[in-house]
Amino acid sequence: MPLIHQPRSREIDHVLEHASGDKRFKILEVFMKRHMFRADALIEVLHKAQELFGYLEDDLLIFVAHHLKLPPSRVYGVATFYHFFTLKPKGEHTCVVCLGTACYVKGANKVQAAVEEATGITAGETTPDDKVSLLTARCIGACGVAPAVTYDGQVAAKQTPEDALAKIKEWTGHDAE
Ligand code: FES
Repeated sequence: MPLIHQPRSREIDHVLEHASGDKRFKILEVFMKRHMFRADALIEVLHKAQELFGYLEDDLLIFVAHHLKLPPSRVYGVATFYHFFTLKPKGEHTCVVCLGTACYVKGANKVQAAVEEATGITAGETTPDDKVSLLTARCIGACGVAPAVTYDGQVAAKQTPEDALAKIKEWTGHDAE
């Protein structure tokens, strides 16, 4: 995992640039600010990051390392050490269903159930062909457009089970129903 151990400044710039357009990174930044960007808040910050994104991708770990002024290798080490953190799943595509309160009351559980039935996996798993990984998040910062789902990192608004199944079909190339 060379990127996370030795991110060059250009890679950090890239992460910060793409992060600036994603509200979830802003929410995470505010959370770190509330902890005064203290390095000893790392575990709380990683928990918050996982709640927001569903899993901890390299870019996200670099973003955290940069703001807490920690070596990326240390952040990566903590993320891999504790079993309650999930690193990027191995699926070619990743679907994260938000199960925060706003999304749940608008039917996110039905979206999750539809994806689970169509793929034959449950949240936290990857299909045997490594095409799709399914995860859940606690609140991805898009409550105004609940229920929200992220598909390969892109937040999609007001998702229905049909919307999710259409995306699964697009990814897998066959009917998900
Ligand atoms: S509860 Fe789903 S985006 Fe906030």
